[in-house]
This record gives sequence, C-alpha cells and structure tokens, in this order.
Amino acid sequence: MENVESRIFTTEMNLSKISVELAEMESLNFGIDGFDAGFIASHLMNVAGAAVILFNEGKAVGYTAANSARSLYVSNVYYLGRDFNKTAYLVNSSLRPEFQRKGLIWQMMEPLEEELRKKGYQFLDRDSKADTGYADKVIRHYGDRVVFARLVEDTMWGKQQYIRVRL
Ligand SMILES: CC(C)(COP(=O)(O)OP(=O)(O)OC[C@H]1O[C@@H](n2cnc3c(N)ncnc32)[C@H](O)[C@@H]1OP(=O)(O)O)[C@@H](O)C(=O)NCCC(=O)NCCS
Repeated sequence: MENVESRIFTTEMNLSKISVELAEMESLNFGIDGFDAGFIASHLMNVAGAAVILFNEGKAVGYTAANSARSLYVSNVYYLGRDFNKTAYLVNSSLRPEFQRKGLIWQMMEPLEEELRKKGYQFLDRDSKADTGYADKVIRHYGDRVVFARLVEDTMWGKQQYIRVRL
C-alpha cells in the first residue's frame, strides 16, 4: 500500500494518541476482548524490547511489539534450557481490518526483528493464531529459522500455536 509507513516507536512520539488509535483498532478486531489503550501503551514503552507502528496518513493503524521473555509473566517452563536471557516474546501484532491480508505484517516485523537483534536477542517466541491459518503462514515465512513449533492449543484467545524462531 502506498501511504503506509512502519516506524519504530520512540518516546518522542505521541504515546497517548497512538495508544488510543491502536485500542480502537483492537476493539474493531476483538470487540470487548481487545487490549485497551493503557495496556497497549505499556507494550510501546517496553524499554527492554521494541515496538513498531504502522502509520497511514499520520494515524496508527497497526503495531507489533516484543518484550524480554524474562520480564513477562510467561510460564518459565517454556524457557528451560532455551536461552531465557536471549529470548524476546512477541506480545501482540494487530492491524486495522482494512489493512489486513496485504502482507503488511512483514513490513513491521522486519524493523522489529532488526531492533531486537541490536538489543542482543537471538530468539523470538510467539503465540500465533492458528484458527485463521496465520500460524501456518508464520511457520512458512520463517522456514529454517523456526527452532520449534508446539502443537496447537485451545486458549482463551482461541486456537494458538507457540512458535520459536531464530532472529
Ligand atoms: C494476524 C495479522 C497481524 C497478520 O497480518 P497481515 O498483514 O494481515 O498478514 P498476511 O497478509 O501475511 O496474512 C496472513 C494470514 O493471516 C490470516 N488472516 C489475516 N487476516 C485475516 C482475517 N481478517 N480473517 C481471517 N484470516 C486472516 C490468513 O490466513 C492470511 O493468509 P492469506 O491472506 O494467505 O489467507 C493481521 O491479519 C491482524 O491484525 N489480524 C487480526 C488480529 C490478530 O489476529 N492478531 C493476532 C495474531 S497472533
């Protein structure tokens, strides 16, 4: 798409405007189950991790964010013997409906992954939606960078697949 631009979130950006715009997007995608502006703001301000925002004509229409696995309440069992300190966890990826299915996620993931590598991370772990076919796409996209993919599980967010990739 012509007018869209991915940018790493920095503290010079207008955090509250962006968070409110992204919360609106979340409610379009997930209704009452969508993340609210405060929670999204906490994703954007993760100094140990990184976030990338997709802008269209100055408005935030999507984002993807990762934080250090260590600082998240993710079950430690995932990380036993798996370089806990070098692992980032993808906390969310979401686009406004009219921007979905155009491959724009990869335009956000590239700078996010670059930033995570700069911060010393070597792995990116994620739970990807399996009921829309997205998890399969993620596995195909990363190819031989996939370290492992767990079996699809039923979760409170629907069917999800836990996938670990090399950065
Ligand atoms: C998941 C998401 C971030 C992927 O970004 P994207 O730029 O749309 O990704 P792609 O264009 O490469 O599409 C990836 C696949 O996701 C699935 N998908 C994407 N949007 C979908 C939708 N609205 N309905 C059903 N499946 C969808 C499809 O399997 C699609 O592949 P296809 O177009 O070949 O059928 C984005 O679609 C989104 O924000 N979806 C809603 C929020 C969400 O589910 N986020 C959690 C992801 S774990």
